[in-house]
Amino acid sequence: MLEVETDSLATNESVPAAAENPFAKYMPKPQVNYPVVPEHQQGFLKKVYVQTWGCQMNVADSERMLGLLGRMNYRPTEDVNEADFVLLNTCHIREKARHKVVSRLGELRPLKEKKPDLILAVAGCVAQAEAKSLAREVPFVDVIFGPDQIEELPALLETLATRGTAIGDAPHIHAEFNKEGYSIPVDVVPPYFDEGKHEVSKFINIVKGCNNFCTFCVVPYTRGREKSRVADEIIRETEFFVSKGVREIVLLGQNVNSYGLDLLDETHAHKKVSLETAGTLPFADLLYKVAAVPGVERIRFTTSNPHDFTPGLAAAFRDVKQICNAFHLPVQSGSDRILDRMNRQYTRAEYLERVGWIRAVRPDIAFSTDLIVGFPGETDEDFEETLSLVEEMKYAFIYAFKYSPRRGTPATRFKEQVPEAVKNVRLQKLLELQKRETERQNAAEIGLTREVLMLYRNRKDKGDESTWYGRSNEGRLVKVHSPRDLIGKLLQVKITGANATALEGHPA
Ligand code: 5AD
Ligand code: SF4
Repeated sequence: MLEVETDSLATNESVPAAAENPFAKYMPKPQVNYPVVPEHQQGFLKKVYVQTWGCQMNVADSERMLGLLGRMNYRPTEDVNEADFVLLNTCHIREKARHKVVSRLGELRPLKEKKPDLILAVAGCVAQAEAKSLAREVPFVDVIFGPDQIEELPALLETLATRGTAIGDAPHIHAEFNKEGYSIPVDVVPPYFDEGKHEVSKFINIVKGCNNFCTFCVVPYTRGREKSRVADEIIRETEFFVSKGVREIVLLGQNVNSYGLDLLDETHAHKKVSLETAGTLPFADLLYKVAAVPGVERIRFTTSNPHDFTPGLAAAFRDVKQICNAFHLPVQSGSDRILDRMNRQYTRAEYLERVGWIRAVRPDIAFSTDLIVGFPGETDEDFEETLSLVEEMKYAFIYAFKYSPRRGTPATRFKEQVPEAVKNVRLQKLLELQKRETERQNAAEIGLTREVLMLYRNRKDKGDESTWYGRSNEGRLVKVHSPRDLIGKLLQVKITGANATALEGHPA
């Protein structure tokens, strides 16, 4: 199956050779991890403190920046007071996210005043969308740069080194969209991998931006139009991670289902794969390719827009055993009227139809979703439809948000904005409904044996050395007690306990 134009996806024409890359001088060899620094020179290493808000895409971007900074002899620190470089990677999806960044910068100002050489940078989507207003609001910041400037970080730092970082200098702004394409060549920008942490699951960016223009969403304005990485690059990154012991690959994009459509040749590029016609999809093809890399035990991906979902993807769920038994499929609302106003380009019935395609091949798959309450014009009846959809779907978990007006998006201009108090009540109702369902599903796990990929030690309770966390294939968090180091193990775990947030068990 899946006869798509793989040739156009498989070339790596857009990968610049290392020698042509303007930053190649910072990366003398295609080394993939931090260069080893002799002990007597370790005092010269600098420290970078990175704080990340928002989606997995931002987490992956922060890691990419850490990889690049590693080449420049920066090492991460968790203590902001000892940092030479403070990097805030920001999110713009809801208003609260911007407030958090501005208030964090307020907290950091005294540190910057005390240490004038400290470099203070704002990256990410707030930087992209609001560079100028941010520069006015927090003028003590040294550099503001967008997601498309990540690869230029070494050059930006070099500019700052010659220009200085004193308070009073206007922030250096760099936030233009790269209109070229999307390439993160593995040889030039080494994938970030922390040997010390024994990382088991890694994110890989496959497509950035979004063409869907949902009326509430800033992403098409902060991340631009969809641009996909060629499959070759993604496979090389997968191979690298697997060689380091990674067992789970999480493919990332604002809308992974439309991965690769921009790479198709001219005759196909204009033709958006439609729900009715397309049985094939470059994204499904990519899943087969990633699964073929020896050592890839699990594949997850996020996020999928139901609009771009085709039977080809359902077929991949049927054929590729490494694709986990969990699917995050944001619906946003259960009301057709609201879905239309959101410009989601599917109806409730079409959403359920797509769910049916997946359930036909994976009857016990765990669905999850994103929902917005209080979208402009949402009536009590519309909200009831959301509740009824959630009831019908039996999601494993949901992310629910109050609608937050974002400047520049069409929905801010819609009349009938819903009062905050109404949004609060609806959010509570929705969360309570789902909590009961999650508890019910988790309780039903007791007595079952699940395959769990162990990911990390309990970080909150440092005193408890014997508590480990992993995820079942269905994406449920599972706590396991063991005196042995379990990280990286794919265990059969007998589930013995459950609450609304996690399961508990012991190796079967
Ligand atoms: N207000 C509230 N929630 C939003 N999301 C995106 N934009 C907004 C907004 N303006 C939610 C959607 C999306 C998730 C990542 O964030 O549910 O799927
Ligand atoms: Fe935003 Fe809609 Fe694109 Fe998702 S599909 S990133 S909600 S515009």
